[in-house]
Amino acid sequence: MAELAKDGTPATPRAIRLTDYRPPAYQVETVELRFELDPANTRVHCRMTVSRNPACKVQGHELNLYGKDVELVRLSVDGIERDKNTWVIDDETLTLSGMPERAVVEIETLIHPDSNTALEGLYVSSGMFCTQCEAEGFRRITWFPDRPDVMARYTTTLVAEKTNYPVLLSNGNPIKRGELDDGRHWATWEDPFPKPSYLFALVAGDLACIEGDFTTRSGRKVDIRIYVEHENRHKCEHAMDSIKQAMRWDEETFGREYDLDIFMIVAVNDFNMGAMENKGLNIFNSSCVLASPETATDADYYNIQSIIGHEYFHNWSGNRVTCRDWFQLSLKEGFTVYRDQEFSADLNSHPVKRINDVNILRAHQFAQDASPMAHPVRPDSYIEISNFYTVTVYNKGAEVVRMIRTLLGAETFRQGCDLYFERHDGQAVTTDDFVAAMEDASGIDLTRFKRWYSQAGTPVIDVEDHYDPQQQRYQLTLRQHCPATPGQADKKPFHIPLLTALLSGDGSPLPLQLEGTSDSMAPQHEMLLELFDQEQRFTFTGVAERPTPSLLRGFTAPVRLAIHRDEQTLAFLLANDSDPFNRWDAGQTLAVNVLLKLVDASQKQQTLDIDATVIEAFRATLNDPRLDMALIVQALSLPSEAYLADQSESVDVDAIHAARMYFRKTLAEQLYDDFARRYQALQSDAPYRFDANDMAQRSLKNLCLSWMMETEKQQARELCVQQFEQSSNMTDTLAALSTLAQHDFPEREKALEDFYTQWKDDPQVVEKWFAIQAGSRLPETLQRVTALLEHPAFTLKNPNKVRALIGRFCQGNPVRFHAADGRGYRFLADRVLELDSMNPQIAARLVSALSRWKRYDPTRQHHMTQQLERILSHEPLSRDVFEIVSKSLDASPKIT
Ligand code: TRP
Ligand code: ZN
Repeated sequence: MAELAKDGTPATPRAIRLTDYRPPAYQVETVELRFELDPANTRVHCRMTVSRNPACKVQGHELNLYGKDVELVRLSVDGIERDKNTWVIDDETLTLSGMPERAVVEIETLIHPDSNTALEGLYVSSGMFCTQCEAEGFRRITWFPDRPDVMARYTTTLVAEKTNYPVLLSNGNPIKRGELDDGRHWATWEDPFPKPSYLFALVAGDLACIEGDFTTRSGRKVDIRIYVEHENRHKCEHAMDSIKQAMRWDEETFGREYDLDIFMIVAVNDFNMGAMENKGLNIFNSSCVLASPETATDADYYNIQSIIGHEYFHNWSGNRVTCRDWFQLSLKEGFTVYRDQEFSADLNSHPVKRINDVNILRAHQFAQDASPMAHPVRPDSYIEISNFYTVTVYNKGAEVVRMIRTLLGAETFRQGCDLYFERHDGQAVTTDDFVAAMEDASGIDLTRFKRWYSQAGTPVIDVEDHYDPQQQRYQLTLRQHCPATPGQADKKPFHIPLLTALLSGDGSPLPLQLEGTSDSMAPQHEMLLELFDQEQRFTFTGVAERPTPSLLRGFTAPVRLAIHRDEQTLAFLLANDSDPFNRWDAGQTLAVNVLLKLVDASQKQQTLDIDATVIEAFRATLNDPRLDMALIVQALSLPSEAYLADQSESVDVDAIHAARMYFRKTLAEQLYDDFARRYQALQSDAPYRFDANDMAQRSLKNLCLSWMMETEKQQARELCVQQFEQSSNMTDTLAALSTLAQHDFPEREKALEDFYTQWKDDPQVVEKWFAIQAGSRLPETLQRVTALLEHPAFTLKNPNKVRALIGRFCQGNPVRFHAADGRGYRFLADRVLELDSMNPQIAARLVSALSRWKRYDPTRQHHMTQQLERILSHEPLSRDVFEIVSKSLDASPKIT
């Protein structure tokens, strides 16, 4: 809630700054927690041993505790009860002064889980108790030094009524349990590893337990347990396999072994994010763990494997070594995303994974860098930390780690990781500590590289080349600049690794010799160019013919390449580049160029037209027998409307949509027979398997179907309905249904109805059903979405439903959300205001759809800012929404 100043007027929430960081005056050695669980009134008893922190230089014996929405019942120090006038409460902080060097502090609080709709702290979801403490949720449970640099050993006792809550879980190992004579029972858990409070968790409920085990490389047997609602016990096999794969992979790739005797995962229906890495007790959004072939798609299976990996990998990158403060969030998130990306790539396909990750980065992170919410990977200020779980901190953060690996080489990077884990085990550290370990292991100076952590914005690299046939010299001149971002007008040059090859006329990479370096024994065909300065020139000697440069291979840096290449050059790279990423990227650039020309023609009301060579290039790709099917799918997937928007000077949503539709329709008409042939050939009766080859086959088949449907031919319609009705797996069923939902045929309504009737009892499938309707490009989608708000299966209290219906419409359906009359914006603002008092985190995520208003035409700008202002004037307003809205309007005080 917006804080009120002492005189009752609303105070502007204040920014927290990195430069204000001070170590805590007191450390906590041990914490004993006792929860008497009751949905309406849960009593929490917290007993902690605190001692003066030698690292804190300031004198003073003040213990700061944080609390939010907790009723303080009793507080004592060393057994002596303190009364209210012995402490000061200011906002969320309670200060106890005159503390001894060492003391036992006991606190009793009352909290109300069943009215906790924010889903932070302790709450009830589908009848079970669960917690979410990252980032600052522990302070909603008890008054505590709730900051990540306070690490303590926890012992937790849960007491609850036995019939409704037979399962009682917390971090670590179970040590004792027993029964009370009033129908309640209790269990005590002990976590031997010191941890910050954000990693605390408990769960209590009536849950089925699926068991497995894993023997670590040092021979310890770990029990694996997945807890789910009883009706979901058949949906855990994939999660169990994924845990074992993650455990093995982290041992093999990073030498990291699991450290407790039990590893548990619990599935929860109401959850603000995907999952949470609580020590030994990961809590997952049900949608990120449950899967069966009938109810989950290939994308779900893939996603589950990657998120299970992600949370598991946090056990080292996050838990054993944690963050000093929340500005360091990318220390754990960027690193862990990098680790989960490599895990998925190793288990599936490297090029496909890279393409998907770069697509996310370009469509969302580049857009964030160009918006009022742009911030560095290590932000230097925030109002509400929940708003900084962003694509910048996560995905750009992962790119920064990836660049370090590229600069150091795989082996040295691994040594750097080993040194980091060894040096900082059990500590709360900073991104500077991470980089220092990398420098110490490699001897490479990363001083300038660290600007990737402190400067926001996407660098642009201008490329100029010159070939001298007489001298057989080829010169590449690279210049970098980075657009201004809020609070950072001028940027210093970045240290940018660019993996480069020079291709000869037949596509083979030429041997590379840089002028001024000695001949190497074995000639390199690929070279890492390092750009440190604003401008650098690289001269290659002995170049016998004018080469075609293949730059930024594998996307070795999160930058935009400003290089002009004509269609022949791009077509050459598309056909010949030996780097699969660049090959794909050349095709995308070609498509972007064609589409932007169509956008231009559409704006000028000229007739649209596509060159025959483009169509033939698509046909050749579709029918290329040497190409991996998964890569064909990537190549034939057009750049998203979001990416096209990013590539436009000013965004014209209607023209972008029209251009993309025209392209799809034209190509579909021209290649109909090719698509139909491929579609038929890819039919299979084999039972569903989650396997890279089967997945590639299904995705190519479904891609063909969706292109065929663009022609609206009778045959395509029939095939689509047939696939919808006969498929036995959700991947094919949903592919058919999503395609039907894009077309105004009578078959559409019937399919949507049948689907709901069949799956109304499965929340994850119902979420897909909402999302499909919200994502439809048909003109009446907003009316449909508005009507669905009243559907019995919809509730604003469940974040997955909100994301499926409202999130999908506002963030995944640009042409309908950005309706010129502003109705989409008003709809969003209405929902944000309804949600703000219930779940500010979710409200703030939604409202960011209005942040980029400056990119649109004056009419839309007007409609968007009107809604932003309307939200801003609302009282009370959460810190979460306040921060996004005020920064979007540029109304907050300038942060310098
Ligand atoms: N640390 C979680 C992750 O693995 C992020 C997370 C889960 C989270 N739930 C949250 C962050 C709630 C803030 C609030 O990415
Ligand atoms: Zn994470």
